[in-house]
Amino acid sequence: MKKITIAIDGYSSTGKSTVAKQIADYFDYVYVDSGAMYRAITLYALQNDFISENKFDKNPLINSLNNINLKFNKNSSTGKAEIFLNGINVEREIRTLRVSEFVSPIATLSEVRAKLVQQQQIMGNDKGIVMDGRDIGTVVFPEAELKLFMNANAEQRAKRRFNELIERGDSVSYEEILHNVIERDRIDTTRKDSPLIKAKDAIEIDNSEMNLEDQFQTILQLAKDRVAGRV
Ligand code: CDP
Repeated sequence: MKKITIAIDGYSSTGKSTVAKQIADYFDYVYVDSGAMYRAITLYALQNDFISENKFDKNPLINSLNNINLKFNKNSSTGKAEIFLNGINVEREIRTLRVSEFVSPIATLSEVRAKLVQQQQIMGNDKGIVMDGRDIGTVVFPEAELKLFMNANAEQRAKRRFNELIERGDSVSYEEILHNVIERDRIDTTRKDSPLIKAKDAIEIDNSEMNLEDQFQTILQLAKDRVAGRV
Protein backbone atom coordinates (compact mmCIF):
# COMPACT_ATOMS: atom_id res chain seq x y z
CA MET A 1 0.00 0.00 0.00
CA LYS A 2 1.12 3.54 -0.78
CA LYS A 3 2.68 5.37 2.17
CA ILE A 4 1.78 9.00 2.62
CA THR A 5 2.84 11.97 4.74
CA ILE A 6 0.26 13.51 7.06
CA ALA A 7 0.85 17.03 8.39
CA ILE A 8 -1.27 18.27 11.28
CA ASP A 9 -0.96 21.92 12.27
CA GLY A 10 -3.02 24.15 14.49
CA TYR A 11 -3.38 26.30 17.54
CA SER A 12 -2.12 25.26 20.96
CA SER A 13 -3.94 22.46 22.80
CA THR A 14 -6.24 21.60 19.92
CA GLY A 15 -5.73 17.88 20.44
CA LYS A 16 -3.42 17.50 17.46
CA SER A 17 -1.21 14.96 19.16
CA THR A 18 -4.12 12.76 20.28
CA VAL A 19 -5.48 12.33 16.79
CA ALA A 20 -2.03 12.18 15.23
CA LYS A 21 -1.18 9.20 17.46
CA GLN A 22 -4.47 7.46 16.66
CA ILE A 23 -3.92 7.84 12.92
CA ALA A 24 -0.28 6.75 13.13
CA ASP A 25 -1.28 3.64 15.10
CA TYR A 26 -4.03 2.78 12.62
CA PHE A 27 -1.68 2.83 9.61
CA ASP A 28 1.38 1.67 11.54
CA TYR A 29 3.12 4.95 10.70
CA VAL A 30 5.71 6.86 12.69
CA TYR A 31 4.27 9.65 14.84
CA VAL A 32 6.40 12.70 15.57
CA ASP A 33 5.40 15.42 18.03
CA SER A 34 7.45 18.33 16.69
CA GLY A 35 6.31 20.51 19.59
CA ALA A 36 8.16 18.17 21.95
CA MET A 37 11.40 19.14 20.18
CA TYR A 38 10.80 22.89 20.72
CA ARG A 39 9.81 22.13 24.30
CA ALA A 40 13.00 20.10 24.92
CA ILE A 41 15.15 22.99 23.65
CA THR A 42 13.23 25.30 26.00
CA LEU A 43 13.88 22.93 28.89
CA TYR A 44 17.59 22.97 28.02
CA ALA A 45 17.51 26.79 28.12
CA LEU A 46 15.84 26.70 31.55
CA GLN A 47 18.25 24.09 32.90
CA ASN A 48 21.26 26.13 31.75
CA ASP A 49 19.98 29.42 33.15
CA PHE A 50 19.56 31.08 29.77
CA ILE A 51 16.19 32.09 31.14
CA SER A 52 16.00 34.08 34.32
CA GLU A 53 12.83 35.51 35.76
CA ASN A 54 10.82 36.34 32.67
CA LYS A 55 13.56 36.98 30.13
CA PHE A 56 15.64 34.70 28.00
CA ASP A 57 19.04 35.37 26.60
CA LYS A 58 19.04 34.14 23.03
CA ASN A 59 22.77 34.23 22.23
CA PRO A 60 23.99 31.58 24.69
CA LEU A 61 21.18 29.32 23.55
CA ILE A 62 22.00 29.80 19.87
CA ASN A 63 25.68 29.16 20.64
CA SER A 64 24.78 25.93 22.44
CA LEU A 65 22.56 24.43 19.77
CA ASN A 66 25.31 22.04 18.67
CA ASN A 67 25.41 20.61 22.19
CA ILE A 68 21.73 19.72 22.15
CA ASN A 69 20.92 16.22 21.04
CA LEU A 70 17.28 15.21 20.67
CA LYS A 71 16.03 11.69 20.07
CA PHE A 72 12.69 9.92 20.26
CA ASN A 73 12.67 6.41 21.77
CA LYS A 74 9.70 4.13 22.09
CA ASN A 75 8.64 3.37 25.66
CA SER A 76 8.39 -0.42 25.60
CA SER A 77 5.52 -0.59 28.09
CA THR A 78 3.26 2.12 26.60
CA GLY A 79 4.43 1.84 22.99
CA LYS A 80 4.62 5.64 22.83
CA ALA A 81 7.59 7.61 21.56
CA GLU A 82 9.21 9.74 24.26
CA ILE A 83 11.73 12.52 23.83
CA PHE A 84 15.29 12.31 25.15
CA LEU A 85 17.40 15.44 25.68
CA ASN A 86 21.11 14.56 25.64
CA GLY A 87 20.26 10.98 26.56
CA ILE A 88 17.78 11.77 29.34
CA ASN A 89 14.06 11.13 29.09
CA VAL A 90 12.37 14.51 29.50
CA GLU A 91 8.91 13.58 28.22
CA ARG A 92 7.24 14.60 31.46
CA GLU A 93 9.31 17.68 32.26
CA ILE A 94 8.67 19.36 28.92
CA ARG A 95 4.91 19.53 29.60
CA THR A 96 5.06 21.92 32.57
CA LEU A 97 3.52 25.38 32.41
CA ARG A 98 7.00 26.86 32.96
CA VAL A 99 8.18 25.32 29.67
CA SER A 100 4.93 26.39 27.96
CA GLU A 101 5.60 29.97 29.02
CA PHE A 102 8.93 30.16 27.19
CA VAL A 103 8.54 27.78 24.29
CA SER A 104 6.88 30.21 21.89
CA PRO A 105 9.51 32.97 22.28
CA ILE A 106 12.22 30.34 21.76
CA ALA A 107 10.40 28.95 18.72
CA THR A 108 10.67 32.37 17.05
CA LEU A 109 14.46 31.90 16.69
CA SER A 110 15.41 31.00 13.13
CA GLU A 111 18.53 29.14 14.30
CA VAL A 112 16.39 26.86 16.47
CA ARG A 113 13.86 26.32 13.69
CA ALA A 114 16.51 25.51 11.08
CA LYS A 115 18.03 22.81 13.30
CA LEU A 116 14.69 21.18 14.09
CA VAL A 117 13.18 21.41 10.61
CA GLN A 118 16.24 19.66 9.18
CA GLN A 119 15.85 16.76 11.66
CA GLN A 120 12.11 16.57 11.02
CA GLN A 121 12.59 16.37 7.26
CA ILE A 122 15.07 13.50 7.69
CA MET A 123 12.51 11.63 9.83
CA GLY A 124 9.98 12.01 7.02
CA ASN A 125 12.27 10.87 4.20
CA ASP A 126 10.53 7.52 3.77
CA LYS A 127 6.97 8.84 4.25
CA GLY A 128 4.63 6.76 6.41
CA ILE A 129 4.71 9.56 8.99
CA VAL A 130 2.23 11.69 10.91
CA MET A 131 3.77 14.87 12.32
CA ASP A 132 1.99 17.58 14.26
CA GLY A 133 3.09 21.13 14.94
CA ARG A 134 2.73 24.67 13.61
CA ASP A 135 4.66 24.68 10.31
CA ILE A 136 4.46 21.07 9.17
CA GLY A 137 2.21 21.59 6.14
CA THR A 138 3.79 24.92 5.22
CA VAL A 139 7.53 24.43 5.80
CA VAL A 140 8.53 20.92 6.92
CA PHE A 141 6.45 18.86 4.46
CA PRO A 142 4.92 21.22 1.91
CA GLU A 143 4.31 18.18 -0.34
CA ALA A 144 2.35 16.21 2.30
CA GLU A 145 -0.57 14.27 0.79
CA LEU A 146 -2.85 15.20 3.69
CA LYS A 147 -2.70 18.49 5.59
CA LEU A 148 -4.99 19.32 8.46
CA PHE A 149 -5.41 22.58 10.29
CA MET A 150 -6.98 22.18 13.73
CA ASN A 151 -8.83 24.75 15.73
CA ALA A 152 -11.22 25.01 18.69
CA ASN A 153 -12.30 27.90 20.85
CA ALA A 154 -9.70 29.08 23.36
CA GLU A 155 -11.79 28.32 26.46
CA GLN A 156 -12.36 24.74 25.34
CA ARG A 157 -8.66 24.29 24.64
CA ALA A 158 -7.62 25.78 27.97
CA LYS A 159 -10.09 23.52 29.77
CA ARG A 160 -8.61 20.41 28.10
CA ARG A 161 -5.03 21.41 28.91
CA PHE A 162 -5.96 22.38 32.48
CA ASN A 163 -7.54 18.94 33.03
CA GLU A 164 -4.45 17.19 31.64
CA LEU A 165 -2.12 19.07 33.99
CA ILE A 166 -4.35 18.64 37.03
CA GLU A 167 -4.69 14.91 36.34
CA ARG A 168 -0.94 14.46 36.40
CA GLY A 169 -0.69 16.41 39.66
CA ASP A 170 0.58 19.86 38.59
CA SER A 171 -0.79 22.78 40.53
CA VAL A 172 -1.99 25.32 37.98
CA SER A 173 -5.02 27.55 37.62
CA TYR A 174 -7.42 27.58 34.70
CA GLU A 175 -6.82 31.33 34.24
CA GLU A 176 -3.08 30.97 33.81
CA ILE A 177 -3.55 28.14 31.32
CA LEU A 178 -6.05 30.20 29.31
CA HIS A 179 -3.65 33.11 29.32
CA ASN A 180 -0.83 30.85 28.12
CA VAL A 181 -2.93 29.34 25.33
CA ILE A 182 -3.91 32.79 24.04
CA GLU A 183 -0.39 34.19 24.37
CA ARG A 184 1.19 31.25 22.54
CA ASP A 185 -1.34 31.59 19.72
CA ARG A 186 -0.43 35.26 19.42
CA ILE A 187 3.33 34.65 19.30
CA ASP A 188 3.04 31.60 17.02
CA THR A 189 0.83 33.38 14.45
CA THR A 190 2.78 36.65 14.36
CA ARG A 191 6.41 35.49 14.34
CA LYS A 192 8.46 36.27 11.21
CA ASP A 193 9.92 32.82 10.60
CA SER A 194 7.34 30.13 9.76
CA PRO A 195 4.28 31.62 11.47
CA LEU A 196 1.33 29.38 12.18
CA ILE A 197 -0.92 29.77 9.15
CA LYS A 198 -3.23 27.39 7.36
CA ALA A 199 -1.55 25.99 4.25
CA LYS A 200 -3.63 26.72 1.13
CA ASP A 201 -4.37 23.05 0.64
CA ALA A 202 -5.02 22.18 4.31
CA ILE A 203 -8.40 20.98 5.50
CA GLU A 204 -9.64 22.93 8.50
CA ILE A 205 -11.17 21.03 11.41
CA ASP A 206 -12.81 22.81 14.31
CA ASN A 207 -13.20 20.27 17.09
CA SER A 208 -14.83 22.52 19.71
CA GLU A 209 -17.97 20.41 19.51
CA MET A 210 -16.48 17.10 18.34
CA ASN A 211 -15.80 14.13 20.56
CA LEU A 212 -12.60 12.15 20.10
CA GLU A 213 -14.27 9.34 18.19
CA ASP A 214 -15.99 11.69 15.69
CA GLN A 215 -12.74 13.51 15.16
CA PHE A 216 -10.81 10.27 14.64
CA GLN A 217 -13.37 8.90 12.16
CA THR A 218 -13.44 12.15 10.17
CA ILE A 219 -9.68 12.30 9.86
CA LEU A 220 -9.31 8.56 9.29
CA GLN A 221 -11.62 8.79 6.26
CA LEU A 222 -9.56 11.66 4.82
CA ALA A 223 -6.39 9.64 5.30
CA LYS A 224 -7.86 6.41 3.84
CA ASP A 225 -8.96 8.29 0.71
CA ARG A 226 -5.42 9.50 0.17
CA VAL A 227 -3.74 6.18 0.94
CA ALA A 228 -6.07 4.52 -1.58
CA GLY A 229 -5.36 7.25 -4.13
CA ARG A 230 -9.05 8.26 -4.32
CA VAL A 231 -8.14 11.93 -3.81
O1 CDP B 1 0.73 22.65 23.88
P1 CDP B 1 0.59 22.15 22.49
O2 CDP B 1 0.55 20.67 22.39
O3 CDP B 1 -0.51 22.77 21.75
O4 CDP B 1 1.88 22.69 21.75
P2 CDP B 1 3.14 21.90 21.23
O5 CDP B 1 2.78 21.20 19.97
O6 CDP B 1 3.74 21.11 22.33
O7 CDP B 1 4.11 23.10 20.81
C1 CDP B 1 4.67 23.97 21.77
C2 CDP B 1 5.16 25.24 21.08
O8 CDP B 1 6.25 24.90 20.22
C3 CDP B 1 4.17 25.98 20.20
O9 CDP B 1 3.34 26.87 20.92
C4 CDP B 1 5.09 26.70 19.22
O10 CDP B 1 5.58 27.90 19.77
C5 CDP B 1 6.26 25.74 19.07
N1 CDP B 1 6.19 24.90 17.86
C6 CDP B 1 6.60 25.46 16.67
O11 CDP B 1 6.95 26.63 16.61
N2 CDP B 1 6.63 24.70 15.54
C7 CDP B 1 6.24 23.43 15.56
N3 CDP B 1 6.29 22.71 14.43
C8 CDP B 1 5.79 22.84 16.76
C9 CDP B 1 5.76 23.61 17.90
